[in-house]
Amino acid sequence: MTERLIRGRVLTFVAEPKGIDDTAAWRYFEDGAVLVRGGKVVDTGDYADISKLAGADVEVADHRPHLVLPGLIDTHLHFPQTQAIASYGAQLLEWLNTYIFVEEQKFAEAAHAAAVADRFMDELLSNGTTTAVAYCSVHAESVDAYFTAAEARGMRMIGGKVMMDRNAPDALRDTPQQGYDETKALIAKWHGRGRALYAISPRFAITSTPEQMEMSQTLVAEHPECYVQTHLSENRDEIAFATSLYPAAKDYTDIYARYGLLNERMLLGHCIYLSDREISALAESGAVGVFCPTSNLFLGSGLFDRDRFDRLGARWSVATDVGGGTSFSMLETMDEAYKVLHLQGQRLTPFASFYRMTLGNARALGLEKQIGSLHAGADADIVVLDSSGKSAMEYRMRTARSLAEELFILQTMGDDRCVAEVYVAGKPMKAKGKRATAASRFLENA
Ligand code: GUN
Ligand code: ZN
Repeated sequence: MTERLIRGRVLTFVAEPKGIDDTAAWRYFEDGAVLVRGGKVVDTGDYADISKLAGADVEVADHRPHLVLPGLIDTHLHFPQTQAIASYGAQLLEWLNTYIFVEEQKFAEAAHAAAVADRFMDELLSNGTTTAVAYCSVHAESVDAYFTAAEARGMRMIGGKVMMDRNAPDALRDTPQQGYDETKALIAKWHGRGRALYAISPRFAITSTPEQMEMSQTLVAEHPECYVQTHLSENRDEIAFATSLYPAAKDYTDIYARYGLLNERMLLGHCIYLSDREISALAESGAVGVFCPTSNLFLGSGLFDRDRFDRLGARWSVATDVGGGTSFSMLETMDEAYKVLHLQGQRLTPFASFYRMTLGNARALGLEKQIGSLHAGADADIVVLDSSGKSAMEYRMRTARSLAEELFILQTMGDDRCVAEVYVAGKPMKAKGKRATAASRFLENA
């Protein structure tokens, strides 16, 4: 069995940092190493200690002076929107109708879904993201494409077919029964196969009838082992429309609560305009609000109020929300998260950012034993970050004096150019030369 010793400046979290000086929340090894065997972390620590645990034919990957961290985790994005990022000029409902519901129809064709799924996984990996939670399209084939591409790379990925039976084009609508049957079959096929995990995915209250919500409730009751994902309170017009469709509900959150969907395996994208009552309802159920900063800015949606989530004891995670989000990079995402919080007088320390992209998001998924940190026995999903990956960063780094400063430079200026390597279950996976291929295709088409 191949053994690999990954050497570099290792950083991994053990708790949520309570402030910039909370050094007990993380472990940092200046000359550190992670020993990997059979896709798992054997142990992490100082190189001098860890190298003694290695066998004679260990492969050494020396990444000094780069940082070695757990692979990044993205808790909400849309795989069929990979080619619809940067669609101009509209807020949520108009954007969905004008661009997204057109794009997602292409996924009726299995070959298209397979090609995009491959590209999607490679984009994640080149940005250092080793686990993500994605919506597929309404077509069951898109879920097969998604998990097939993840399986080919050995990635732990979570996803599911969107269910939508109204307020969408005919070609994108299922029926409550079809949504139920297809979801059941996909769970049976994919949940727990290799590293795959299923997310039951009613898109949002606007695109599901009460009958489909009831079917979702049945699915969640029958499959407590699966995740549930949807969208909540992203945009004022969306909220008005959703609540008008469910007049008996107290508010938007109550729509999902009435159908028994709120639980600790539920991820609710956006959560921007929630009342204290709604955030408290999330807190009570353990459901997770997902902060999608680049998307919330790009679609002109609004500002996520992290401090209110913390004050009311509700769980939250971070995500790119591609293609409402504008980047696959979790570094760029945290850059925007910092600014969104800053606008509201809230602080996001660099340690809190790196915690959130790794262990914090793993905890939001209940997967902290497997991913999000480099403890012995964890899955060996690892990212290697080069803080001088761009020339302006290299110049800025010359004046950096602390790890906190370096992390802040990485999140503020960094992107995929700072991902020197990524390991999935211990295997190096960084895709090379993609940009040249895409550029030459553009020139061919021109
Ligand atoms: N609400 C319902 N569907 C979507 C989607 O695809 N993207 C975003 N940002 N919000 C949504
Ligand atoms: Zn979304």
